[in-house]
Amino acid sequence: MHLFSTLPTLALVATVMAHPGGHDIISRSEISRRSSMGLKCRDNAPYFDTIQNDTCVLTPEVTQGPYVYPPSQALRQDMTEDQVGVPLWLDIGVLDMATCDPLEDVLVDMWHCNATGSYSSFTELSPNTPFLELLAQQGINESDYQIGITDLHTDHTTFLRGTTDKNGMMEMKTIFPGFYIQRAIHIHVQVHTDWTLRENGTITTGNTVSTGQLYFDEALEQKIMALQPYASHTQINRTTNAEDSVFPYDKAGGFSPVVDVVPVDGNDVTKGMIGYITLGVDTTAIEHGDNYVGDS
Ligand SMILES: *[C@@H]1O[C@H](CO)[C@@H](O)[C@H](O)[C@H]1NC(C)=O
Ligand SMILES: *[C@@H]1O[C@H](CO)[C@@H](O)[C@H](O)[C@H]1NC(C)=O
Ligand SMILES: *[C@@H]1O[C@H](CO)[C@@H](O)[C@H](O)[C@H]1NC(C)=O
Ligand SMILES: *[C@@H]1O[C@H](CO)[C@@H](O)[C@H](O)[C@H]1NC(C)=O
Ligand SMILES: *[C@@H]1O[C@H](CO)[C@@H](O)[C@H](O)[C@H]1NC(C)=O
Repeated sequence: MHLFSTLPTLALVATVMAHPGGHDIISRSEISRRSSMGLKCRDNAPYFDTIQNDTCVLTPEVTQGPYVYPPSQALRQDMTEDQVGVPLWLDIGVLDMATCDPLEDVLVDMWHCNATGSYSSFTELSPNTPFLELLAQQGINESDYQIGITDLHTDHTTFLRGTTDKNGMMEMKTIFPGFYIQRAIHIHVQVHTDWTLRENGTITTGNTVSTGQLYFDEALEQKIMALQPYASHTQINRTTNAEDSVFPYDKAGGFSPVVDVVPVDGNDVTKGMIGYITLGVDTTAIEHGDNYVGDS
């Protein structure tokens, strides 16, 4: 059952309006239950060396946003395709919050916009047009828009979408993302405990146990955005993490959604970087379908 189907329409509209692409709703008791799981796990911290991060904090649930498109999520470890940008090897460790051990056999699904703000499968939507205007252009009344239900895809391109699985620790090669209107630079991630591979290499997912967004440090972003082709995106100003409407929700419960970065050559991040982040997931908090569903 979708959470949104249980909400009065007005409440839904208010959420969409206040945070275009904003946070989905989780009950307070669920947030507090998850935060206390995080605190419990933090005591075991030094055990998790191989995950490249010594914390075990539950990743908050935030919106998947409008640009998820499962038919384009291919199982692969390089999702760059023909996209130009600073190379990024994103390493993601997944911890089971019940045990603080690496969670094996999960699939991590990632998608982000290209250096000038476009998402594959949605290439005809301008990265410079505010979301509600985009809806109007698509002939969609904003009161009918529902995250995870309204399908805005315009094509079947697949760049910068990918999915990988490897014993709780995985690496995806991509490029450093650019930005689009009203949002800080971010990468979407979803963790699935139940998935199958289709004949065409794309995946179908059953249980989603975590939906989050990853960010980068402001100083790093300034360095990368000064380079081409990022710097050619002058039609809009970039939203910083401090200004972003979703970022604060990603910090809930002590989690830091900011990716730690090291230069590949040990020296210059503009030549390429390796990013590390650990996601703590609660395997019992299953989101059915495309929307987060809490216990409430
Ligand atoms: C892969 O196959 C699925 C199921 O037939 C289809 O919905 C999807 O569009 C295909 N994706 C690609 C990229 O071919
Ligand atoms: C990003 O994708 C859009 C849509 O496909 C494309 O027009 C644009 O050139 C791409 N940006 C870069 C830097 O390649
Ligand atoms: C959008 O839907 C609302 C509620 O159904 C309606 O009152 C409004 O007139 C519609 N707006 C447009 C532009 O169609
Ligand atoms: C970007 O911000 C600056 C400083 O606030 C402002 O002067 C400029 O008009 C903005 N540019 C765009 C494209 O919004
Ligand atoms: C691990 O992540 C935490 C927050 O999630 C961050 O504060 C810390 O610096 C990271 N540690 C390492 C060793 O990267």
